Amino acid sequence: METKQVNRILVVAGICLMMSSWFCCIEAAAAAAAADENEETKFKKILCAKATDCKNKTISELFTVDQFESLFSHRNAPLAHAQGFWDYHSFITAAAHYEPKGFGTTGGDIVQKRELAAFFAHIATETSCESLMAQAASTAPSDSPTKWGLCYKEELSPDSTYCESSLVYPCAPGVSYHGRGALPVYWNYNYGQLGQALKVDLLHHAEYLSENATLAFAAAIWRWMTPMKVKQPSAHQVMVGKWVPTKNDTEALRLPGFGMTINILKADAECGTDSDDKQMNTRIAHYLDFLDHMDVGRENAGDNVDCSEQKVLNPSSSAST
Ligand SMILES: *[C@@H]1O[C@H](CO)[C@@H](O)[C@H](O)[C@H]1NC(C)=O
Ligand SMILES: *[C@@H]1O[C@H](CO)[C@@H](O)[C@H](O)[C@H]1NC(C)=O
Ligand SMILES: *[C@@H]1O[C@H](CO)[C@@H](O)[C@H](O)[C@H]1NC(C)=O
Repeated sequence: METKQVNRILVVAGICLMMSSWFCCIEAAAAAAAADENEETKFKKILCAKATDCKNKTISELFTVDQFESLFSHRNAPLAHAQGFWDYHSFITAAAHYEPKGFGTTGGDIVQKRELAAFFAHIATETSCESLMAQAASTAPSDSPTKWGLCYKEELSPDSTYCESSLVYPCAPGVSYHGRGALPVYWNYNYGQLGQALKVDLLHHAEYLSENATLAFAAAIWRWMTPMKVKQPSAHQVMVGKWVPTKNDTEALRLPGFGMTINILKADAECGTDSDDKQMNTRIAHYLDFLDHMDVGRENAGDNVDCSEQKVLNPSSSAST
């Protein structure tokens, strides 16, 4: 072998060691080789440029505080119910724990941003004060209804403490398990399961979820990353293309796309109605707007954005176990 070839192989190997994906590395090496550059420095330059491309950015590198402010621009409006609670820093702190597990770091720029846009679309829809827009019209005339997310941190006038008899997660005396968080959590058994996963005693201190924004974001990301049941995909897996539908899924028209994340998180509350569920459409509107705000563009929303024709994965009659 010529010395030059050996040198090239060493350069490729060195750069590949610093990269997150061997597949990406091989692509980069092939691109550099195909360029047929004789000079060692040019070869290195091409390889390095490619390598930087493949190295996945972190969330804070591809989603800035300004974008956060523009996605949730009315969360601190005078009418909002969680003024000063939600902020970019808490989100990034919570996300850091899940980035090594692939949250917002899988698949390269477009897929990464698309996952984040989908995640934010769900939390914005769940916590939106869009209904207050009419009242706020005098202060914010030309506003988009999708800018009112993160306006709540908990259910305001719960008419129940959401306590159901449970051996595993028994209700603590005096604790109310009403909706709290960015993907609101209800019922003692859900607080119990979440608390176990996050190693926080939420069964005795359900209120932590509406007192600590980092914890509240972490809870939402955990829900996003965790399948509802074994052998089912998480919303994360769906958005990063890691979910392969089974024959049953295909027959039930459950296909990869944003719609499937609605199916996972909301089931028959919004999916499988064969009609345009209003709340489902609100979610989709958020998703598309957020893609625009994050420089991905709604034209890159992917297929199967809605779930109206999908059979639901976990019908609510059997969902609460
Ligand atoms: C980085 O992105 C590539 C695809 O571009 C993906 O295969 C890989 O899993 C990602 N790395 C991590 C740590 O998720
Ligand atoms: C908020 O929750 C996070 C995550 O559980 C924890 O690390 C942090 O200490 C909490 N902050 C306060 C003020 O309790
Ligand atoms: C597929 O659907 C059939 C009929 O509804 C059901 O009996 C079967 O258990 C399903 N298989 C899986 C793997 O879910």
